[in-house]
Amino acid sequence: MAIRLGDEAPDFTAETTEGTIRFHDYLGDSWGILFSHPKDFTPVCTTELGAFAKAKPEFDKRNTKLIGVSVDDVASHQKWVGDIAETQGAALNYPLIGDEDRKVAGLYDMIHPNADDTLTVRSVFIIGPDKKVKLTLTYPASTGRNISEILRVLDSLQLTSEYKVATPVNWKDGDDVIITTAVSDDEAKDRFPKGFTTLKPYLRLTPQPNR
Ligand code: BEZ
Repeated sequence: MAIRLGDEAPDFTAETTEGTIRFHDYLGDSWGILFSHPKDFTPVCTTELGAFAKAKPEFDKRNTKLIGVSVDDVASHQKWVGDIAETQGAALNYPLIGDEDRKVAGLYDMIHPNADDTLTVRSVFIIGPDKKVKLTLTYPASTGRNISEILRVLDSLQLTSEYKVATPVNWKDGDDVIITTAVSDDEAKDRFPKGFTTLKPYLRLTPQPNR
């Protein structure tokens, strides 16, 4: 069954390149990103794993733990990591799950049989500290993901979980945000002391409140 926004992220115990991990314990009180790779020793996945490793300080700043999954076993992953370090200039610095029995792929509905009946698609799940799924993204095997977009949406999720705001199209950290319609003008004056601009009664912009 597909995982939907607001669902609890299924827990599991799995072997990884950093030993046995129980997923919810691994996440602890942090945010988490679980992302799937179709197969080891494949070109797009190699670039993605290296890019996530390079960007790890950005995820650390956002109190967010990374964990990848690929349908080969950990022994295969251990051989592959050398290629990732050599070709991408960054060594794997987060766990990669060995999912040869497709347990995690099954729990998270990462195999889409009409695309490929054995390999996973490229899924991304962002999970909040409450273990609820906050975002899902699905890419085909032929298209590598965009780390900047994953960081951008993480910034939005973290901001909107703290303040009664939403983020407009193409928003990025530092841009003005939208005051949600549940907030009256009087309440908005208290909550957003930097002020706000009313374009329409339902469209009010305010500077990012945590800046
Ligand atoms: C890749 O990572 O390059 C890839 C993996 C599976 C199918 C196609 C491409």
